[in-house]
Amino acid sequence: MDRQRIVRVGLLGFGTIGSSVYRLIQKEHDQILEGTGVDLQVGRVLEIDSSKIPADVPQDLVTSEFSQVVDDPSIDIVVEVIGGTDAAFIFLDTAMRKGKNVVTANKQLLASRGEALFTLARDQKRHLRFEAAVAGAIPVIKVMRESMIAAELHTVYGIVNGTTNYILSRMYNEEGDYAEILANAQELGYAEADPTADVGGADAAAKMAILASIAFHSRVTLGQVAYSGIENVTLADVRYAKELGFVVKLVGAARLIDDRVSVRVFPALLPVGHPLSAIYGSNNAVFLQGDAIGEIMLMGPGAGGVPTATAVVSDIVSIANTKSVGFLQSCSCYRRLGMYPAGEVESAFFIKVSVADQAGVLAQIASVFGEHSVSIANMIQKGRGDEAELVLITHPTKEKHFFAAIEKAKTLQCCKSEPMTLRVL
Ligand code: HSE
Repeated sequence: MDRQRIVRVGLLGFGTIGSSVYRLIQKEHDQILEGTGVDLQVGRVLEIDSSKIPADVPQDLVTSEFSQVVDDPSIDIVVEVIGGTDAAFIFLDTAMRKGKNVVTANKQLLASRGEALFTLARDQKRHLRFEAAVAGAIPVIKVMRESMIAAELHTVYGIVNGTTNYILSRMYNEEGDYAEILANAQELGYAEADPTADVGGADAAAKMAILASIAFHSRVTLGQVAYSGIENVTLADVRYAKELGFVVKLVGAARLIDDRVSVRVFPALLPVGHPLSAIYGSNNAVFLQGDAIGEIMLMGPGAGGVPTATAVVSDIVSIANTKSVGFLQSCSCYRRLGMYPAGEVESAFFIKVSVADQAGVLAQIASVFGEHSVSIANMIQKGRGDEAELVLITHPTKEKHFFAAIEKAKTLQCCKSEPMTLRVL
């Protein structure tokens, strides 16, 4: 390569991702230089916890003052991997105002305050890149923004949380209990000490808000995503699903329906044979459907320091090799679509309920569903007497009709437990 350029990175945060970005830049330096002409250097590291900085990192690189990064004229690209939303917002906002291009892995920030940041990036003519914010190493942002530009996407299904996929995969394979597997996953480092955002669905909801915004060119914020997690999924549910030919997964579903957008995250039954049912362990996958493409699925590691760092470094090198900030770098949300009402979405459901095992019980339950136009596709009964449990699968129906039927079923004397419901994809 005849023309080499030094590009200096200011790294905000030296945690799992930050330290992996630092190492990857050292490790891949020569081949990036050879391949692209970019002499990539880490010029500053912002880290307030000095115990996170290993001895081999030159101490003169490290600072606890953001101003030392953002006011350093030799820094070209600021990389935010500290997480959280308040300081991270200020850091990215200030960096762009001071002429830096920025890269972030912060899904919660983009899903909640993305509009302000993307507007600023456009006004300041700065790059704001975020491949690492969704699905770790999987290059889904680039593929959706560039390769799918003419794909007429109408549906994005995602398994975008590795922690929950790991737990549910083990529940299915080992027939283990949720709490035991979660505790073991924490010991093995597959789940955070505080797993709330993962198991509760908030992490996946933020990622789906970002994916939906890109797919449908209309901003979806975290507050517009209805989500639930896997905390209430029991081994019994997973076993019933298995018996009926399904796998339970935490699924993000983003759909364009009648020019409105629906984005939700929920534990769902997927038929064995659906491409997403085969996504095992902590892997992620994004399944895209569009009028012009049919179906495409991307899968791979969705978390972890090194895989996520590959996405960050790819963004850095891409910025370094792009002369102007064009349409692929600026905000792609040029439409303003409304949200599709949740009750109007059509879904099939799995229902599990404890019942009195007596003559006429099935007829009573079936009649409640019939009154609400909910058609039953499949049913099994387990146990007898006081131990009896009914498991039903419905045909797709408007969710408002289904939930009205469930409210009515709760009032039946023969139903001895709150019905447990899961969507079926
Ligand atoms: N905690 C996330 C997961 C990875 O389990 O997939 C970072 O978003």
